[in-house]
Amino acid sequence: MKPLTLDKILQTQGFGTRKECRNLILHGAVGVGDEIVTDYQVTPDTANLDFTVDGASWRYREHVYIALNKPAGVECSRRPAVHRGVLSLLPDQFTLRDVQPVGRLDHDTTGLLLLSDDGNFIHAQSHPKRHVSKTYVATIQEQVTPELVAQLSAGVKLSDEPAPLAAKARQLDTYQIEIAIDMGKYHQVKRMLAAAGHHCVALHRTAIGGLTLESLGLKEGAWCYLENEQLAQL
Ligand code: URA
Repeated sequence: MKPLTLDKILQTQGFGTRKECRNLILHGAVGVGDEIVTDYQVTPDTANLDFTVDGASWRYREHVYIALNKPAGVECSRRPAVHRGVLSLLPDQFTLRDVQPVGRLDHDTTGLLLLSDDGNFIHAQSHPKRHVSKTYVATIQEQVTPELVAQLSAGVKLSDEPAPLAAKARQLDTYQIEIAIDMGKYHQVKRMLAAAGHHCVALHRTAIGGLTLESLGLKEGAWCYLENEQLAQL
């Protein structure tokens, strides 16, 4: 593959148009290794390339894979209508790179959300045939009962689904139940609980596949890059 010039590298990393990136370089805002570089035609090796823009450090990444601990009151939509958009919690570069949420959480659902600019990854993760398991902790208005756990495990009928949908369910606490599903139907967990006669008052996603929010140690609103080892857990 033809080596990328520095202006093109910056453009792929979300630092603006080619012209804007050239200007950043010409104005001495960009460093490679320990040196400020003002020639935008240099072609540094992108493998393990660390660079700075206005003093902030970045690593070149062909694609980004991100985990976010989503707070409540944030919309996953690209054009948020009522609440702030999830991309506003990430550096602006990610919006320019066309980073998108992998699936959606409701505005009031909290917890683990993946985002990426890799279309193949987004498609593979969201494809219904892949059956990626997603684990939630739901807090419900009435006490969790053995009957509720049994009902969810056996399957409940949603009005727009031809067959009952089942979940792995277990009681965690008086009002908390862990629910794992491997599909991503609209409002699926809340609707399954409603179909079983319960009202969900809070919903938190704790894991996607084998990747847990706890293992990432992310505070609410915080994000991190996912490296190969973590991607393998999905
Ligand atoms: N199920 C829901 O009902 N809401 C979510 O945000 C995710 C799963």
